[in-house]
Amino acid sequence: MQRRTTLRLVLWGLVVVAAGAAGIGWFVTDRQGERTVASTAAGLVGGPFRLVDPAGEVVSDESLRGRPFAVFFGFTHCPDVCPTSLWEMSTWIDALGDDAERLGFLFVTVDPERDTPEVMGAYVGSFSDRIVGLTGDRASVDEVIKGYRVYARKIPLEGDDYTMDHSAMVYLMDENGAYSSHISFGTPPERAVEMLRTLL
Ligand code: NI
Repeated sequence: MQRRTTLRLVLWGLVVVAAGAAGIGWFVTDRQGERTVASTAAGLVGGPFRLVDPAGEVVSDESLRGRPFAVFFGFTHCPDVCPTSLWEMSTWIDALGDDAERLGFLFVTVDPERDTPEVMGAYVGSFSDRIVGLTGDRASVDEVIKGYRVYARKIPLEGDDYTMDHSAMVYLMDENGAYSSHISFGTPPERAVEMLRTLL
């Protein structure tokens, strides 16, 4: 009886901890557009990082300074969300026309073991030559995932295969690399383009 009570307390403790850990994610995920939330999140999302583009050039928070950018996280083996997001982003770029030149568009892998610079270049390039695919070693990628409070988890499949479960929003960062707002998956294209113009 006593053991059972203790176990129950431990389980409830875990639930509380998990809810607390998820809280910040929801905070940023579900309340887009509210100014107070956006300004609060400014200090929570982002931070230093150092990754490489398909040409092997370093892209870092510092090299991006001076130009706002849109960034999202995923992986090239993704069956649906990532290709859809990349395709949508390419349509935003088309809709922005010349204004797109003043923005950076980044796709950061959460699966650097499979997504080498070459793989990223070939995959992302098939959607748009304006979107830059970024990867790095595991530690560098984990640093960005942590900084941007991205949810990413490896899900084992049959055999040695695996897939990645990951958050799907596009973060809009200002010219200082600070969080400005984000575009949720499934946002109507007109609204997304309007948000990108606001970022400019
Ligand atoms: Ni994906």
